[in-house]
Amino acid sequence: MRVLGFESSCDETGVALVELPPHGQPGTPRLLAQALHSQIAMHQAYGGVVPELASRDHIRRVLPLSREVLAQAQLGLQDVDVIAYTEGPGLAGALLVGAGVAVSLAAALGKPAVGVHHLEGHLLSPFLSADPPEFPFAALLVSGGHTQLMRVDEVGRYEILGETIDDAAGEAFDKSAKLLGLPYPGGPHLSKLAERGRADVFELPRPLLHSGKPDFSFAGLKTAVLTQVKKLGEAPTEEQRADLAASTQAAIVEVLVKKSLLALKSTGLKRLVVAGGVGANSSLRAQLNAACAKRGVRVHYPELSLCTDNGAMIAMAAAMRLQRGMARLREDGSFGVRPRWDLSAA
Ligand code: KG4
Ligand code: ZN
Repeated sequence: MRVLGFESSCDETGVALVELPPHGQPGTPRLLAQALHSQIAMHQAYGGVVPELASRDHIRRVLPLSREVLAQAQLGLQDVDVIAYTEGPGLAGALLVGAGVAVSLAAALGKPAVGVHHLEGHLLSPFLSADPPEFPFAALLVSGGHTQLMRVDEVGRYEILGETIDDAAGEAFDKSAKLLGLPYPGGPHLSKLAERGRADVFELPRPLLHSGKPDFSFAGLKTAVLTQVKKLGEAPTEEQRADLAASTQAAIVEVLVKKSLLALKSTGLKRLVVAGGVGANSSLRAQLNAACAKRGVRVHYPELSLCTDNGAMIAMAAAMRLQRGMARLREDGSFGVRPRWDLSAA
């Protein structure tokens, strides 16, 4: 059985084809082909995602990317058994493009369509790596819009242990980067600038660090970065900017690591999965690896290229649900999207 998956919740159009193990046999589904178009260059002029432009661009990209994926796999549409798409959360217009294309294609082929939760896609993306995790595990989900720690017992069994009460970690990276004059999306740019800086130059807050609970708050950090930027004046030196970037990254990473350890301790779990765009951050990876190695905890990440949004994770999440007989199958040509959608309700 093969699943063609579409991701279009924000500013990346992703398409991928995943194959389940032969009938009834156990094993992890495998990625046959994938293609991705990032809209970052298009939105950069506006300093952030423009929803209307995002939807229009998804319309332009989704079919050519699908052709590319099928060509890579040397297969045709007749070889696809299920069409999966991101049902939410995300930008309503952008989601509607992927959902509309997926459901119409499925109806035309007489095959079922499956709506997927975007965060479940991120969460299960490490199953696409060469070294997939085993259930159960603790998960740190750090994307542009979400920061959550979870206990994951199986596909569809997600218990939220803690989450951010305001900004997400990705947002903290992006907003701080913007204050430093870096282009959108700021996370990777800030991380690059931080490589040349010293992390102990600026004293920045670590909100809720000692709350004793796996919860987060990043809004205050952004305000503290703004105060420092103002103090530096009109023309900060390259060194000052790099130091501030490094100090900001250190504050975010310290909180993420400490809270992950807290979640591991409280659950007694010995496996940690890190997923979502911020999971690509090399400082976060280095510090988590070091802290977890000391405690005998194994850390699993998606491949670097699959940390940010992509179609492979959507096809994979659908495939793993299909294997367990718990996919949300749509066979009547109807569809809807859920711009807001709690993962614990998925
Ligand atoms: O998971 P994702 O692609 O999209 C959402 O579902 O939100 O995450 C995007 C977020 C952005 O905030 C981006 O700045 C951040 O991930 N990000 C990074 C890095 N790469 C992406 N943040 C820090 N360091 C990185 N290397
Ligand atoms: Zn995402």
